[in-house]
Amino acid sequence: MRLDKLLSNIGYGSRKEVKGLLKTGVVKVDGKSVKDAKLHVDPNHQEITVHGEEVVYKEFIYLMMNKPQGVISATEDPQHETVVDLLALEDAVYEPFPVGRLDKDTEGLLLLTNDGQLAHQLLSPKKHVPKTYFAEINMEVTEEDIEAFKKGVMLDDGYVTKPADLKVVQNGETAEIELTIVEGKFHQVKRMFESRGKKVTYLQRISMGPLPLDEELALGEYRELTEAEIEKLKMGHEW
Ligand code: URA
Repeated sequence: MRLDKLLSNIGYGSRKEVKGLLKTGVVKVDGKSVKDAKLHVDPNHQEITVHGEEVVYKEFIYLMMNKPQGVISATEDPQHETVVDLLALEDAVYEPFPVGRLDKDTEGLLLLTNDGQLAHQLLSPKKHVPKTYFAEINMEVTEEDIEAFKKGVMLDDGYVTKPADLKVVQNGETAEIELTIVEGKFHQVKRMFESRGKKVTYLQRISMGPLPLDEELALGEYRELTEAEIEKLKMGHEW
């Protein structure tokens, strides 16, 4: 990455300001003063200091976002705003990508990382990572629905879902439920209810693996995971 881009992204001012800073000779790469803004540096393997202080550039970044509706779970989209567009430049510079997808109209917990290995682990169908959703349903949810989800239901393409845990939070003319699934087929929660002749009218992911959605996060906000949370995720199926 270009030295001026790196310094600018991590908060040393605009590219122009960084150029000015470089001219003063206070930026060193591996102990040598560098004035060339265009110099390509590798922050993971070279020591970069400004005024003698080492610039911290992490290899991996792990973020939890409370995804709002109307935003696409992708890194780029020609038409719509993406979850990556919601990131501050200082985080976007690490090029995180969403771990799996939430539909455009689904809210809630979305992890973003540039750690491909961890993302792969969390998404691997073999790992059966549980994901819990809160949903509003357009009609009553019955014991039969609970039993059917426990056994597995057939989706519109003939796929039979793995056992899922359905809990009714509130029931009446409409219902509120929590559903835990261990796979991630396209539109899975919506299609599971469709298989029962019911419609999801609101969907929010409230947990993934060991991590619950941080309730302090407003829609569209995100934060870095703590070391303990990253450890838990990496432990795989200890949770
Ligand atoms: N199931 C869905 O139907 N949509 C999502 O966004 C996630 C799970």
